[in-house]
Amino acid sequence: MFEALTARPPDSILALVQMYRDDPRQTKVDLGVGVYKDATGLTPIMRAVKTAEKQLWDVQDTKVYTGLAGDPAFSDAMINLVLGTAVARDAVASVATPGGTGAVRQAFELVQMARPDARVFVSDPTWPNHLSILGYLNVDVVNYRYFDEETRGVDFDGMIADLKTAKSGDVVLLHGCCHNPTGANLNLTQWQAVIDVLLETGAVPMIDIAYQGFGDGLDEDAAATRLVASSVPECLIAASCSKNFGIYRERTGVLMVVSQSTQARKLHQDTLAFLNRQNFSFPPDHGARLVTMILTDDALRADWMAELEEVRGNMLDLRSQLAAELQRLSGSDRFGFLAQHRGMFSRLGTTQDKVIEMREKHAIYMVGDSRMNIAGLNAQTVPILAQAIIDAGV
Ligand code: LMR
Repeated sequence: MFEALTARPPDSILALVQMYRDDPRQTKVDLGVGVYKDATGLTPIMRAVKTAEKQLWDVQDTKVYTGLAGDPAFSDAMINLVLGTAVARDAVASVATPGGTGAVRQAFELVQMARPDARVFVSDPTWPNHLSILGYLNVDVVNYRYFDEETRGVDFDGMIADLKTAKSGDVVLLHGCCHNPTGANLNLTQWQAVIDVLLETGAVPMIDIAYQGFGDGLDEDAAATRLVASSVPECLIAASCSKNFGIYRERTGVLMVVSQSTQARKLHQDTLAFLNRQNFSFPPDHGARLVTMILTDDALRADWMAELEEVRGNMLDLRSQLAAELQRLSGSDRFGFLAQHRGMFSRLGTTQDKVIEMREKHAIYMVGDSRMNIAGLNAQTVPILAQAIIDAGV
């Protein structure tokens, strides 16, 4: 039977990881997959995570199943982290999922169950795996304009015009902060305008928030999500702990359904638990438990927040260094957008040919759409990248 299978195109981000590994050049620079790296190129285990793991080893006396929704304390901690006091706790149904991707996948499945003909509006561009999962599930996708190739900011008028074509029962996928792959984000006034369109059209927002704390700060990065959740009748939120807790391989995420109708919450909660049961039964617990311990212990939380601020500061410094070096080399301000972008990524805004040229000539690995992981840089490689960008005539 398996001869009927056809080859799947490789994931553009993950294929690059392998190409980078296979490149023997010492000077190679990895700006591919979205993983934080310190100045030595290491993706460290955060201090608070290590401490929590030690504490857990001492106190954990069973690994029996949790509930289908995971430990409710994890959901509570994550609802507090993402939503703060923006909505009442009893307005939120929530389950632990295997990573942010697990939450995204089940959010789309939930939409399909509720509304088989729903279209999902996605930013052009968006994280490639959004498109891959939607394609796999046979969901109708509509692109909305997002990235302005000229300014490397948001094409806000285009975005609003396209979102106005959504209808009640459609879903609009939004990146809560640190847009992946562009790094270009809306300000809060623009978010309010998006909310007005959502209310006008009746489309349901789904927020993917995978980089909270990597942009302008933990609360600042959640501000748009909180504004949306407190303004619309219903929304979906997929949150990841991979990046801001540095626990990539633990697969820790959460899917929330926020509804102004607290009566609907039980049905939403039961449906989310049902989806977990169909897909994998019980969600992974180790990472979720560490996150819960960190968020509910004053000392661990303070240490985690301090380290997250260091991480965020490092990425902002690298952005400024790169923009300054490019200004020096080009004698122009046209790369100033790199310092304006937020989060782990910036889309340079050049052709695939130039991306390949930089890879072949300078061993610079960025994703084919010219997405760069800023955290893959350090003080030594910033000038190398800047020179490669100028040499390629970007
Ligand atoms: C990325 O965009 O690089 C990360 O979200 C990792 C992934 O799974 O693609």
